[in-house]
Amino acid sequence: MISRRTLLSGAAGLAGTALLGNASGARAFTRPLAPVARPGDEKVVRLDLIAKEHSLSLPCFDGHDLPLWTFADQALPPVVRLNLGDRLDTHLVNGLTRPGEHVSIHWHGIRLPNDQDGVPYLVQPPVEPGASYDYSFVPPDTGTFFFHTHCNTVEQLGRGLAGILIIDGDAPEPYDHDQLVVLRDWRLDEARSAFLPFLTLAGAGRAGSFGTVRSVNGATNPEIPLPAVADVRLRIINVDATRISEVGIEGAEAAVVAIDGLACAPFPLRSWKMGPAMRIDVVIRTPADGGTATLYDYFAAKPVPLARFAAHGAPRRTGDFDPAPLAAARIAKPDLEAAETIPFSFSATATGSSVAAAAGDDGLPLGSLCLSAANLWAINQSSWPGTGMDKLPPPLVRLERGRSYRMQLRNATPQMHPIHIHGHSWTVLGSNKRVLPPHFADTVLLLPNEKIDVAFVADNPGRWMMHCHIIEHQETGMMGWYDVA
Ligand code: C2O
Ligand code: CU
Repeated sequence: MISRRTLLSGAAGLAGTALLGNASGARAFTRPLAPVARPGDEKVVRLDLIAKEHSLSLPCFDGHDLPLWTFADQALPPVVRLNLGDRLDTHLVNGLTRPGEHVSIHWHGIRLPNDQDGVPYLVQPPVEPGASYDYSFVPPDTGTFFFHTHCNTVEQLGRGLAGILIIDGDAPEPYDHDQLVVLRDWRLDEARSAFLPFLTLAGAGRAGSFGTVRSVNGATNPEIPLPAVADVRLRIINVDATRISEVGIEGAEAAVVAIDGLACAPFPLRSWKMGPAMRIDVVIRTPADGGTATLYDYFAAKPVPLARFAAHGAPRRTGDFDPAPLAAARIAKPDLEAAETIPFSFSATATGSSVAAAAGDDGLPLGSLCLSAANLWAINQSSWPGTGMDKLPPPLVRLERGRSYRMQLRNATPQMHPIHIHGHSWTVLGSNKRVLPPHFADTVLLLPNEKIDVAFVADNPGRWMMHCHIIEHQETGMMGWYDVA
């Protein structure tokens, strides 16, 4: 009999071997997770979001203003912070003027009541231009999250429409500094004065249409000042619609303390592959005054420096780096003995491969082939019909509330797919290709032909999406929904 405990400790042992056996000689961290955080008294935090076009610039735009779509009067995504136990009351106004450009807000990774999940047609009506909509919920988990719209996301997110959501209360031993590190690309022409098409058929049929300009917090390879010899929490969030980065840090010891917002036992960061929507919280011990550390993307022929951390001031810490763990997540433990196993295969449709081949490499825009109903990708052989959300296909699966399920996520393609589940967080059990540390995730990255097993208790009733978070894949068919009742 394999209990979750033996499974986890077995996996932890393996993870130790794989992750610690590196040239940097990183030490293991031994401190246990802090007890689950208790929510404070409910306070109401009010938030006004107006989705609107603004002509704005960012350092990475080389002095140009671009027609960004944002939720606030600024180019960077608004950062919303609450304490565990607080209620977030949001008033959303759709100030976009293009006819039919409706919006809604999906609070990515938040295990909230179904009617607040922000998926148009599935759980709420679309919010048409000029209309408004209210959300109200108490996030059950601490950590690093974000929010975005859920239809024509390829363009809406491509133009900047997103926000960051942080739920505090998970660090009983405070770190010396808290730093957001938001990764995203922009699809800009060579002069950086206009957007390129957000969706291309060649991209949609393969790994996606990549941005041409990379950025961290709106700047290309910025220098970010941090306190010296300090334990700094980096909240690294991949807000890009397409790009998978493999992040690592040189010049500082680094430990992963949370994945997709939820605490994990700290393990040394060698490198971590992050698909769109994935987050990691990393604690680094910064260098001495005047020193720098560098955040790299290793997922490239030559490592790409993404940002430099410049240390300033008097040392804050003495002794070895042994980062304080976060408070454990409050996720129901799946009963693996009783769990029903459900296989999911993520594949291309027959049309998908031929269309992608015919489209060639020159980024033919989708519209020019009039393929508004392109079905390039599928989950369990079924492709979301058309590109619209308005025709609901049958659910991928119907789950019984309160029961445990094991999902076998199998990638049957040569592309990678970050697969996201709404409404629940998975317990990641293991992969057939690599050693993964025990952790929770709302988005797991499937490598080519990889199979990852996840499990969860279906304890959140409603109609929930499951889809690839490479938005072009999602919007050309790799999307479905499941029902918990
Ligand atoms: Cu962040 Cu349905 O996704
Ligand atoms: Cu995909």
